[in-house]
Amino acid sequence: MTKAPNLLNDDGTASMATAIMMSHHGFRRDLGRFRRALERIAAGDTARADAVREEWKSFHATLHGHHEAEDNGLFPNLSRQEESVRATIEKLGNDHRRIDPLLERGDRAFAELPKADEALAVVRELSEVLDVHLAIEEAELFSFLRGAKEFPAPANDAMADMYAQGFSWAMDGIAPEVLAALDGMLPDSLRSRLPAAREAFEARRQRAWGELPAGAARTPIPDEVA
Ligand SMILES: [Fe+2]
Ligand SMILES: [Fe+2]
Repeated sequence: MTKAPNLLNDDGTASMATAIMMSHHGFRRDLGRFRRALERIAAGDTARADAVREEWKSFHATLHGHHEAEDNGLFPNLSRQEESVRATIEKLGNDHRRIDPLLERGDRAFAELPKADEALAVVRELSEVLDVHLAIEEAELFSFLRGAKEFPAPANDAMADMYAQGFSWAMDGIAPEVLAALDGMLPDSLRSRLPAAREAFEARRQRAWGELPAGAARTPIPDEVA
């Protein structure tokens, strides 16, 4: 597998590639956290079972939303612009449709916590599928986003709140210089919401995972222990 691309452009600026790869980082990061949390639950430490189950609901919604944004926005746009990536995009869209039933299986499995074996099986399977899927998107599609330097302004307050929540999740574990560069491309309505949203996320992170070291990733690969 080729080396993971940098989140920032070579000149140190952020782009839409940074934003979308920060989400990929978040998916990989959380799958590792779920695996470690489920192993603890399976070993009898069930104190966080409720919070981990709640966190799964967010993960499901975030990953599903990511697929919808790709299927309805990014992929059709890229297909129009770049004939060379059409076959890859077709395959990636099929992956999304394979992943959705796996997320539904995950819903049933996490509802069974503290019984953790099926949830662990789902997390492992999802990690395998996503590892390949995310790497293909990063290697073959996202270089086309490096020139897009402005995050589109949310259409209304509800959407701005939703994006602020999503960014707070995605910023966890990312190197400070990447976050500083990203800040420069966000619209005011979003940037102004981030401090409160990040504080709320910090409480959620504590609830689900407990104390964790602060990561400082510069690529979409988290630097938390695998
Ligand atoms: Fe995807
Ligand atoms: Fe993606």
